[in-house]
Amino acid sequence: MGAAEQKKHAGFAAAAHVEQGMVVGLGTGSTAAYLVEALGKRVREQGLQIKGVCTSKATETLAAEHGVPIIPLGRDHRIDLYIDGADEVTRDGAMIKGGGGALLREKMVADWSRRHLIVVDESKLVERLGLGFRLPVEIVRFGHETTIAKLTALGCETRLRTGADGATFLTDEGHYIVDCRFSNGIANPMAMQQRLKTVVGVMETGLFIGYCKALVIGHDHGAEVRQIS
Ligand code: A5P
Repeated sequence: MGAAEQKKHAGFAAAAHVEQGMVVGLGTGSTAAYLVEALGKRVREQGLQIKGVCTSKATETLAAEHGVPIIPLGRDHRIDLYIDGADEVTRDGAMIKGGGGALLREKMVADWSRRHLIVVDESKLVERLGLGFRLPVEIVRFGHETTIAKLTALGCETRLRTGADGATFLTDEGHYIVDCRFSNGIANPMAMQQRLKTVVGVMETGLFIGYCKALVIGHDHGAEVRQIS
């Protein structure tokens, strides 16, 4: 037993919260992949009729594989329920996301959603953000060295993300990601978000605040739902 089993429990349990006719925001990552798998099963076996709005090309591929119908993010379809993983989440629901590089699309889909459900294994629960996981910041490619210099000047150690092949990682929107380490973590996520968004060249950050109202936490032998007050 371990993180993989816990992610499976969380993803599968979250699928039970999806109701007939819903438009569902489909997250990205290994935990969200279990959600998509379970939704595909419900579509096939229970005749569940839903429309998924994907947060990445990877999730689009997965949804197609599992037979989950998808639609693009658009103004005519408000999303009833957004379900996604997280890299870190605090007691009050502040999160770091973007380990999979989908943070910009994830935040856009989350922002167009009425309700939010976050699926995590136990390791994702933290007291303070940024101590164990670097904060991903999506930046435009043009003049990226200047943007990175400005991020470094804010007091973090920066690392331009590369892929498995060693080449600079590109997001689905064609941007770069800088993973930022703050030596004492992020004491005030809202203030940090506001500060980072003033840096010209930054598209979006992996700080998600106000998008986690309920957590599905996977354990070794099941999952629990925790409401965030
Ligand atoms: C994708 O960009 C991320 O925000 C993921 O949701 C996050 O990294 C969690 O991923 P896992 O479920 O794979 O741990």
